[in-house]
Amino acid sequence: MLELRNLSFQVSDDASEHIEMEEGHSREEEHSREIIRDISLTFEDHAFIAITGPNGGGKSTLAKLIMGIEQPTSGQIIYNGTDITRMDITQRAKLGISFAFQQPVRFKGIKVRDLIQLAARHSMEEAHSREEKHSREKGQPLEDKHSRVKFPDICDYLSKVGLCARDYVNRDIDASLSGGELKRIEIATIIARNTPLSVFDEPEAGIDLWSFNNLIQVFEEMHRESDNSLIIISHQERILNIADEIVVLAEGTVQARGRRGDILPELLKGTEGCKFYQRQSAAGQ
Ligand SMILES: Nc1ncnc2c1ncn2[C@@H]1O[C@H](COP(=O)(O)OP(=O)(O)O)[C@@H](O)[C@H]1O
Ligand SMILES: [Mg+2]
Repeated sequence: MLELRNLSFQVSDDASEHIEMEEGHSREEEHSREIIRDISLTFEDHAFIAITGPNGGGKSTLAKLIMGIEQPTSGQIIYNGTDITRMDITQRAKLGISFAFQQPVRFKGIKVRDLIQLAARHSMEEAHSREEKHSREKGQPLEDKHSRVKFPDICDYLSKVGLCARDYVNRDIDASLSGGELKRIEIATIIARNTPLSVFDEPEAGIDLWSFNNLIQVFEEMHRESDNSLIIISHQERILNIADEIVVLAEGTVQARGRRGDILPELLKGTEGCKFYQRQSAAGQ
């Protein structure tokens, strides 16, 4: 279970203001902007949550706070009872949190095959250590590791995101890959990692319709066939349509959260008719 407690994230504005004071004195006043404002949210195990809302609303920032790429100004993040607020990305990854960036980074000098193999092996080792712990707790001997955890097929992960494995396994992760290809490879890596919590930031960006159809099925399958949790940031109705719950984030706050059936009809009214966005613009006045 993931719990965000009164999470806030402020940045200092570049434009500091020169303020003239009485008797010829002046001072520089630093302005800060609150990107995430006092957010409290709980995500249960096996959750399938879509986070949506207008551009600039703070969705990517929230994902970065969950992954430890940004540190909150105040508030806490609790993961399975552990306070992870001050943990770095690596520590959080070890606890089983993965994140697919909105704009993925290029790992120089590594091949597509190595990246996915590494992720899949990692997932296999983690599954094995979880089983080992479980067997120890129950006092049962562990079955042969290889009979229980099969080494997954790299090609399978690439085809899940609509890439023909033959063309890609030996490619270098470098500038020769297009943005969309890189994005899909990163999504394949997260699928291969198969961690208890995966966060995807706008997985639809740069993906063609055919691959997107495939991806929808992959997300549904991930949710159906494991107890892992999925948080998907998206503007796509088709992704909102497969999530169990929807969180609407605007101006750094949660405007609404609820079951898909309660939230989606309101969102589909569009910006004009949607009460979540109206509340946001009213608040901004
Ligand atoms: N480190 C940062 N410094 C300054 N501004 C930031 C920083 N991170 C995000 N922002 C700003 O915060 C707002 C929310 O950004 P973001 O979380 O990317 O929104 P979303 O993903 O919902 O479109 C944007 O206006 C963005 O420019
Ligand atoms: Mg974003």
